[in-house]
Amino acid sequence: MRPDPLPGTAPAPTRLADYTPPNFKINSVDLDFDLKPKGTRVKSKLALTRVSGGDLHLDGEDIDLKSVKLDGKSLKRADYTLTQTQLILTDLPDECVLEIETTCNPADNSKLMGLYLSGGRFCTQCEAEGFRRITYYPDRPDVLSVFTVRMKAPKDKYPYLLSNGNMVESGDSEDGKSHYAVWEDPFRKPAYLFALVAGEFDTLEDSFTTMSGRDIPLTIYVDPGDAPRADYALDSLKRAMKWDEDTFGREYDLERFMVVAVRDFNFGAMENKGLNIFNSSLLLADAETATDMNFERIESVVAHEYFHNWTGNRITCRDWFQLCLKEGFTVFRDQEFSADQRGADVQRIKDVSALRGRQFPEDAGPLAHPVRPTEYMKIDNFYTATIYEKGAELIRMLKTILGPENFRKGSDLYFEMLDGTAATIEQFIECFEQATGEDLSQFMRWYEQAGTPELSVTVDESLTTPVQGTRITFSQRTKPTPGQSEKTPVVLPIKWQAIGENGPLSEPQMTVLTTEENTVSLPRFDEAVSLSVLQDFSAPVILNSQQTSKDQLRLMAQDPNAFNRWEAGQTLARKLIGTQALALESGEIPQTDDALREYCEALRNTLHDDKFDNNFKALTLSTPGTAEILQSLDQADPIAAYLAGDWLSRAVGNRLRGDLLQRYHDLSDDGEFSPDAESAGRRALRNRCLSLLASGRDAVTAGLATEQLGTATNMTDELAALITLTKLGGKRVNTSMEKFYDKWKSNPLVIDKWFSVQGMRNHVEGVSAIKELTEHEVYDARNPNRVRALIGSFAMANPNLFHAPDGSGYDFFTDQVLDMDRRNPQVAARLLGAYEIWRKLDDRRQTQIKDQLKTVIASNPSKNVLEIATKTLGN
Ligand code: PHE
Ligand code: ZN
Repeated sequence: MRPDPLPGTAPAPTRLADYTPPNFKINSVDLDFDLKPKGTRVKSKLALTRVSGGDLHLDGEDIDLKSVKLDGKSLKRADYTLTQTQLILTDLPDECVLEIETTCNPADNSKLMGLYLSGGRFCTQCEAEGFRRITYYPDRPDVLSVFTVRMKAPKDKYPYLLSNGNMVESGDSEDGKSHYAVWEDPFRKPAYLFALVAGEFDTLEDSFTTMSGRDIPLTIYVDPGDAPRADYALDSLKRAMKWDEDTFGREYDLERFMVVAVRDFNFGAMENKGLNIFNSSLLLADAETATDMNFERIESVVAHEYFHNWTGNRITCRDWFQLCLKEGFTVFRDQEFSADQRGADVQRIKDVSALRGRQFPEDAGPLAHPVRPTEYMKIDNFYTATIYEKGAELIRMLKTILGPENFRKGSDLYFEMLDGTAATIEQFIECFEQATGEDLSQFMRWYEQAGTPELSVTVDESLTTPVQGTRITFSQRTKPTPGQSEKTPVVLPIKWQAIGENGPLSEPQMTVLTTEENTVSLPRFDEAVSLSVLQDFSAPVILNSQQTSKDQLRLMAQDPNAFNRWEAGQTLARKLIGTQALALESGEIPQTDDALREYCEALRNTLHDDKFDNNFKALTLSTPGTAEILQSLDQADPIAAYLAGDWLSRAVGNRLRGDLLQRYHDLSDDGEFSPDAESAGRRALRNRCLSLLASGRDAVTAGLATEQLGTATNMTDELAALITLTKLGGKRVNTSMEKFYDKWKSNPLVIDKWFSVQGMRNHVEGVSAIKELTEHEVYDARNPNRVRALIGSFAMANPNLFHAPDGSGYDFFTDQVLDMDRRNPQVAARLLGAYEIWRKLDDRRQTQIKDQLKTVIASNPSKNVLEIATKTLGN
């Protein structure tokens, strides 16, 4: 069922079921660019071979057609059909050469799709459908071709001229002022992997010797002055290249590898063949300006884009419905890489937190869609947590079910069989079936069904006394999602273990649930038992168990599985916060009870236990955020949910005051900065202690934070101190914010951090303070990073102001989205996702948000925003 509140205006969706292969093969593409900011001329020469009957459809958008030639002969206007979005040629010969000349305007390209300018440099973004904004072309991933790119630009302003593959020629143009370069990419690729960059850069260079002994020069191109900040990215790249050889047997293929950083970018980064383009926020880092989280993200995104060279580029997607083929697999690969670099347990906890924080709400809300969707209005709207994060979980389950050796056999076969093709999920799964002899037909349901399955665990008899051999029943159910009312059982690998008072009583077991319900028996034990279910989060499900607080406390202390030890604490915290939120809503006075006391004791034990590393401790001492709490409640007041979370942190801060203070001092900085996991863990735990002390409103905290802010030698500590101060409130906040701004105003990435702290602050002036910040001297609504920093953090991480009871937060936010939509529909549509939560909220806010969505729909928005608004509103 597709909501259609504007009959006649909602554009028809693209459907998976309507897929048809292209009529023409493109043997080669020759592109010739005369680069000028306001009028770039593009000549394209396509060598075509017919593969089936029919017309040739070339996509084009926001470009001016100058001329078309067929086999050297100019075509007249009547010889082709030109629509708003296509150039159509009929009755073409079976073999022909088409030459098309167009112009585009990079300087006015505010959508940041196609060819645009960032900081005066030319760059491109073509995934998913940006190439059509450069030239007329079959802009679909199943048309693969070899590209030769010639470009020309003034030498002084654009000393570097880059494109995919290998540079085969370069030199000065006749005019003496310009120069040119010719690039050849020998690997056939779809247009979305095309890239071109021209401008002035500083470079950082190194090389990597591949497993077959080839020397690959590596170059990172950054804004002048930024080169030292690219060290960590370069180091991550080399580690990623080695890891892919060791773990998946994948070697790099071109003669060089280049990475470019740009400041204006719609997403994180892009895997263009041989020429990755990065949002500078995911590439540049040094101790003074980047947090440990930034370093961690850079390492994983650099690896992610590099890994795409095999999962995405060598094997690409047949159509955009198969997006998870490259994204799910590549996220899985980068998660495994990070686990190997930084520790598997902590990595798993972080990945699951992200999944639960972003993907579970999506799966439970109005925008729920399968990992392989069956229709879309704008594909840009489907770069979602479901495609990426849930997509990665499916690959992880595949590995869990098949075992590591068989998984590797399957991936080897996949790389061998489908290299050079545009593939489907079915073909991917078939490779694993063929390599292992397993029947994976039921596994396909994971790709087709939206919604997070709920796994229930019940036992025949109580486990609180010695267990005489009882039975455990696992059962699954998935709630209906928009457009999908019937759900069938999926394949669920469940890793579980019996835990006693002093530790595990059995080895971990693996039960693969394939039906609605399955029963297994538990052996006899002479003592009470707690079940540790779903260890390592072996399947992406919501767990309903009969666990009591006692069980969770036991697991926190005794579960050998680090993930579930952490999970037990989170479950307990969620229960405590949820109960508190309900109490607050009904006007009751917060109750402290035994569970709270024992929870705090368990945290204290974790804090002091030498078995656990600091990263794990920091994560255990972090309580679930408001978004996650709202998921477990019904029609809740989001401010009550926030306050309940704050109440728990305050209780922990108070009860553990002495321990936290002690730890804070013990863990103080020991000199030289290193971004490695262990040093980052020390900082994470120390700052976690500070934050909890602040939540406890401890009088010493302001002093500690002020001191830390003044003396910090790295951004992790500096920013943590600043955030702590904003939480404490009072006069000092504005002074600290101003000082921080003055100190960092010349560094855009740090100023983005400053804006995001501003966006999250519970300003006493209310939402008008945020509004004022949009008029700040360095606020720039054209720069997506800056908009996300302020408006994104306001909508996602400032429950008090965003959900202000008078609706002022929503009014402001809607204005911002609509304003953004006039420039950049992709970014606007993503922001609008903040309203996805509405069904989880109380009646009054539900009405308010529905009204906002209706306003959006009535304002004649872009197709991107219209799709998100109509789906979010539902019918
Ligand atoms: N393909 C990119 C990635 O995940 C994401 C992306 C999509 C970037 C669309 C830009 C535009 O690695
Ligand atoms: Zn990706």
